[in-house]
Amino acid sequence: MTERPPFYITTAISYVNGAPHLGHAYEAISTDVIARYKRLDGYDVFFLTGTDEHGQKVEKTARACGKEPKEFCDEISNQFIAMVDALNITNDAFIRTTDSRHILSSRMVWKRLEEAGDIYLSSYTGWYSVRDEAFFSEEELTKDGDRWLAPSGAEVEWIEEPSYFFRLSAYQDKLLAHYEANPDFIMPPHRRNEVVNFVKQGLTDLSVSRTSFNWGVPVPGDDRHIMYVWLDALTNYITAVGYPDENADSFQKYWPADVHVIGKDILRFHAVYWPAFLMSAGIRIPKKVFGHGFLTIEGQKMSKSLGNVVTPDEMKATYGVDQMRYFLMREVPYGSDGSVAPEAIVQRINSDLANDLGNLGQRVLSMIHKNCDGILPTPGALTQDDDALLIAAKDLLEITRQEMADLAIHRMLEAIWRVVADANRYVDAQAPWALRKRDPARMGTVLYVLADVIRQIAIFAQPVIPEAASALLDQLAVVDEEGARSFSSLEDSLSSGARLPMPSPIFPRFVVDDPA
Ligand code: MSP
Repeated sequence: MTERPPFYITTAISYVNGAPHLGHAYEAISTDVIARYKRLDGYDVFFLTGTDEHGQKVEKTARACGKEPKEFCDEISNQFIAMVDALNITNDAFIRTTDSRHILSSRMVWKRLEEAGDIYLSSYTGWYSVRDEAFFSEEELTKDGDRWLAPSGAEVEWIEEPSYFFRLSAYQDKLLAHYEANPDFIMPPHRRNEVVNFVKQGLTDLSVSRTSFNWGVPVPGDDRHIMYVWLDALTNYITAVGYPDENADSFQKYWPADVHVIGKDILRFHAVYWPAFLMSAGIRIPKKVFGHGFLTIEGQKMSKSLGNVVTPDEMKATYGVDQMRYFLMREVPYGSDGSVAPEAIVQRINSDLANDLGNLGQRVLSMIHKNCDGILPTPGALTQDDDALLIAAKDLLEITRQEMADLAIHRMLEAIWRVVADANRYVDAQAPWALRKRDPARMGTVLYVLADVIRQIAIFAQPVIPEAASALLDQLAVVDEEGARSFSSLEDSLSSGARLPMPSPIFPRFVVDDPA
């Protein structure tokens, strides 16, 4: 057996200052789709997600709720664990930055930066946004009455305190050289330009410790300071694969990560600070950072004050988990911003899922039941039309691989649904129901070709709609073992003569309640 190539993929770790919202769900689902696709394609995948629990923002929120930070973190972190469960996310690990091994790992990174001569003590005087957990220079801010706002719209506060600094300025040229030599390091391409321009403007040293509160990882050798939450948070990606034990099998196998999936708002931390920390610590740099877009609700930013926050639980309860996953992956080009509107969700469910895919499966499988006693027929000689449809399905492997290499999840889905449309046109053109009396052998061939194409479509659809795809494969009697549902089995065909279970629709239509 050939060894499976490793593939390490991560989401950002979410702050635990509030319950999970749709943006978190979107990131988890999209990363899950990539991880599942890679597994089906024979990779040894390690998929990490988790929670970011230190820092001023979390401490403040916990206190405002009258709780100790750790108790508060436990509660909210559990909600994130429940969310990934509810959304059928197949993460291999869930990291919490309050885990003791992570604290050890962050302190080790600090020591390496110090040994490299990149840490020095001074004091920070300037602006800080607690919501962004980020420092800003005056030029980056805008004035709103007598308040100063960060580019995110968050209010900033003035701080003056002793602080250790990281010599970020020393990494400007190295970072630019890295972007130049690795054009795919930052994706999609327009985000890359943003980062390159930011670094070209000049990097100043970064404050990496705080003294005015203590919810964080103590700085080795000086526990009046706690580490800047981002230094601790970014380290999660190596802790999870075994750091500081760089000889651990998991570290050797999975690091450097293949891709960090994150939102566009935190690109600077991942594409500038993180590689600089790693360079300083003498650790290899991740291969790619992908900045996805932001979800809005009917064009507006999701926010508590606008009262338009959609929770993942609500969306799942209303539409179903596969429906939600499909909509989010199909509607919003991956890498761009996108709006979530109920009409668009219903349209996708009824047209793409219930009608195009669901009806195709139901029509074909019930014809096999009615006309062939539920036994998969034996195909005869194939016509040009049969070949054309089978080739369209066969081409999906190469097409989807290319799309997924660019992480163009929406285009992968478009490609699969083009074959769904081909198959529907083929049913209409071949009209197998009319062949029953006239040419039953030909009817058998047509139904067999369709069943086999549906099998292939279902295999490709698994990463996005795992429950429905699995139900469809069950209905085609494709066993769920020994890779029978992975890409290596695409070339196999269905066994004629197999008895198929009773079909049942995989996607009900969504009926909008009439407002009374
Ligand atoms: N804790 C940091 C990440 C540390 S990674 C070492 C953080 N947390 S967060 O909870 O604010 O955001 C987690 C992820 O969700 C980020 O990648 C962020 O971009 C993403 N999203 C938050 N709101 C979003 C939308 N409205 N739409 C899509 N993704 C969004 O940042």
